[in-house]
Amino acid sequence: MPKALLFTAVLLSTLVMSAAGSAATLAETHAARGVACSGCHEENPPARPVETARCQSCHGDYQKLAERTRNMQPTNVHANHLGDLDCSECHQGHQPEKLVCSECHQFKFTMPKSR
Ligand code: HEC
Ligand code: HEC
Ligand code: HEC
Ligand code: HEC
Repeated sequence: MPKALLFTAVLLSTLVMSAAGSAATLAETHAARGVACSGCHEENPPARPVETARCQSCHGDYQKLAERTRNMQPTNVHANHLGDLDCSECHQGHQPEKLVCSECHQFKFTMPKSR
């Protein structure tokens, strides 16, 4: 492969990886969208985890979140039989996502293209 082409291929694969959000943490994805540490943390330097109410001041309630993920398969993760959970049951600030549902189910969630 010519050098220029190879470079483009490598660049493209990097882009695809970051679009899939492979290993980026919430803090990183938020920073990329202009939300600094102080967007989530009230105190500087941060000394406490972030409360769900803080997330919802920007993202709205579960009804609004469920609307955003309404086409999610096999089920809408923001509308479930556990009720209004803390965001941190799944979204962590500085570590990869975890999924509280996995304690009992084996969902492989996919997001709609509309994202
Ligand atoms: C999207 C919201 C968000 C942003 C932006 C964010 N954090 Fe956090 N941070 C969290 C959450 C949630 C926790 C709780 C632990 C976890 O989930 O990883 C946390 C925990 C922490 C803690 C540990 C607090 C404790 O409990 O002792 C520190 C330190 C911290 N963040 C620093 C930062 C710094 C520095 C930045 C900016 C580079 C930042 N955070 C940006 C959400 C955020
Ligand atoms: C200061 C406003 C603000 C706060 C506080 C905030 N976010 Fe966000 N968040 C945004 C913006 C802006 C985006 C990018 C646009 C969008 O997707 O809504 C975003 C995107 C996201 C995304 C999708 C993007 C991604 O892949 O990471 C998730 C998930 C998310 N936020 C969760 C959280 C959680 C959980 C908290 C609390 C720990 C939180 N946010 C706190 C503003 C905020
Ligand atoms: C039971 C697990 C779970 C809980 C609890 C949860 N989420 Fe999510 N959320 C997900 C999953 C899974 C996705 C889709 C994959 C992804 O974007 O990480 C998602 C996606 C999102 C998105 C992006 C939606 C889009 O349009 O792409 C936002 C914003 C978000 N969550 C915010 C929140 C906030 C704020 C809370 C707390 C009020 C919360 N979530 C609670 C699992 C959860
Ligand atoms: C403590 C265990 C437990 C947890 C955690 C849990 N569930 Fe369930 N869930 C059950 C049980 C038990 C049933 C009913 C039996 C069945 O149909 O499998 C059920 C049924 C369901 C169903 C309907 C049946 C199916 O499998 O399609 C959906 C959808 C569902 N859960 C989604 C979720 C989601 C989303 C989460 C995470 C937010 C979650 N559950 C977390 C135990 C749990």
